[in-house]
Amino acid sequence: MKVLILFYSTYGHIFQMAKAIGEGASSVDGAEVIFRRVQETLPVEVLASIGALEAQKAFADVPVVTLEDLTNADAIIFGTPTRFGNMASQMRAFLDSTGSLWANGDLIGKVGSVFTSTATQHGGQESTILSFHTTLLHHGFVIVGLPYSFQDQMSIDGLNGCSPYGASTITGGNGERLPSELELNGARFQGKHVAQITKKLFS
Ligand SMILES: Cc1cc2nc3c(=O)[nH]c(=O)nc-3n(C[C@H](O)[C@H](O)[C@H](O)COP(=O)(O)O)c2cc1C
Repeated sequence: MKVLILFYSTYGHIFQMAKAIGEGASSVDGAEVIFRRVQETLPVEVLASIGALEAQKAFADVPVVTLEDLTNADAIIFGTPTRFGNMASQMRAFLDSTGSLWANGDLIGKVGSVFTSTATQHGGQESTILSFHTTLLHHGFVIVGLPYSFQDQMSIDGLNGCSPYGASTITGGNGERLPSELELNGARFQGKHVAQITKKLFS
């Protein structure tokens, strides 16, 4: 059973969450976890000007995704930071290159799940995940979220980004906040939950 974790990250928060998703997924017996990133589209000068070059070194060695990576996977867990309440354009651009897979129905019946990050508490994590689901439904994915059996998402002690739609983290306006243990646990739970459901579907 192959679980692909496909992410885009500018400043590294989504990469931190992706690693926690991977820990959860790989805790399920028989799960093979594969990490891929979508191609950066911002020019190096722009990345330098927004202070992202250093952060991106942390995941520069993760291979850039190919269409074959998607067809080979049984489950795909997508991670994207929020851009104006939606997914990042880098992820959108990659998804817009999957028309041939859609035409062949190659992704129908695979398990799909989404996690995200926002700068602010109400900056759109839910809209990012739910609008991402639209694309997954067009492809025929079976969508999995973060059920309330991850009870910590109901915590009202301080900030927490997780919701029934998927794990998320709140980064602060300057990216100064790192994913909390609660948010990382939400990501681990989501990864494990996706792998368990995928195992039930495909074994
Ligand atoms: C163009 C742009 C639009 C953004 N839009 C939002 C937004 O709508 N809501 C929000 O809370 N944060 C917004 N952010 C902040 C990002 O979501 C934040 O930097 C990101 O979640 C950090 O994840 P990363 O470290 O993986 O890149 C935006 C950032 C940029 C550059």
